[in-house]
Formats: sequence, structure tokens, C-alpha cells
Amino acid sequence: MNKTFIHEGISSPAVAAGDTRFINFARACTMAVDHDDTQARVADLTRAFVADWKMPDPRFLQLQKDAPYASYLLYLSEAADLCIVLDIFMAQQAAIAHNHRCWCVFSCLEGVEREYLYKVPDDLSAAPVEILSRLRKPGEVTMADAAPGAFHQVECAQGDMAVSLHIYGADIGRLQRQIWNRSAAEYVPFRSDYSNSVAGLPAYLSTKDVPAGAGLT
Ligand SMILES: [Fe+2]
Repeated sequence: MNKTFIHEGISSPAVAAGDTRFINFARACTMAVDHDDTQARVADLTRAFVADWKMPDPRFLQLQKDAPYASYLLYLSEAADLCIVLDIFMAQQAAIAHNHRCWCVFSCLEGVEREYLYKVPDDLSAAPVEILSRLRKPGEVTMADAAPGAFHQVECAQGDMAVSLHIYGADIGRLQRQIWNRSAAEYVPFRSDYSNSVAGLPAYLSTKDVPAGAGLT
């Protein structure tokens, strides 16, 4: 995936779709950044938001069969301190065990995901040890932290696909972090990038289309 997004027209897809709920969610999350409890605030906002939001633009739900999963950038704040992403796992698709190096909030929107959590020393001096496996169902909100040793793996657990919303405290597609290469038994630096460039899509919502200040509903 290259790093060039195609910008179309003057309005974001979210505006074209009339998705004021997403626009207001992005704005509310942006206002929650830079607090001591930013992650908890974003988790609360996410819990309310995912109760009845669906992605209205099918272009951001396209499967990516030749990748571990599809990952669409929906919104990135100007300071790159808030990033909202939609991931789509087909049946049999799975992420490689990875860390994030920033705070994260996750919620499944459709289908069911399975998440494996690992114990990893923060200096990455030992192989991951699985400590928990759990299902992530629609409406449930889970979190991960920025510690280098905070590794997990996610896959589609049931049915044809699983769709999930991810909110991060950094531009997750550009951030250098680590995956665990099981066959080589070593940690490897990687950047995940986004599926937008493959699909020829801009971010779902541009910062220019997020109104500043309070007062919107
Ligand atoms: Fe992850």
C-alpha cells in the first residue's frame, strides 16, 4: 500500500453520506484527547457510538483478500493524536501478533472476533506467551495500552466476516511497531498502512469537515 490517498471533490465521504453521527463522534473523541483519562473517555464515547452505528459507505467495507485483513482509515486528527480505523477480517483471516505503541480502544460492529493476548517483556527479550483468548462481540469495548510488550492477535471467529472499529492515539498505519515472526522466532519492525490507497479512497472524514467547538448534536 502506498502513502498517497486520492482526494475526491470537496466533501468527505462521511459528509456525502450524511453521517453526522460519525462526524460528531470524531469531534467528541478529538475533544477527549490530551486529558489524563483520554482512553477512558474515548472508550465511553465508543460504547455509546457503536450501539447503533453502521458504516453507510460500502467502499469502506471492501474485503482485501490478499492481505491479512482490510484496514480503512476513517479519520486522522491534524496532530495525528487521534486515529479512527475500520478493520474487516474475512473468515480465515488473522492479524499477526503485534503491539501498538499507542493507546487503543476497540469495538466489534458486526460478526465476532477472537482476540489472543500475550505476555511479552517490554524489552522484547522473550517470545510471546499466550495468557488469554476471548471473543469480542458487537457492542463490547476493549482496550490496549502503548507498552512495547502489549501484544495481541485478532481474527474472525465466526461467520463470513467481522467488522470492528479501532481508535488509536497515533497514526497507527504509519507508526513503526513490532510483530512476532513465529517461524523466525523474532520480533520484526513493521508499519501496517491502510487499505485506502489500495481501494482508491480518501479518509472517510477529513479534518476540514469536522466542526470545531461544542454545540452539535
Ligand atoms: Fe491490534
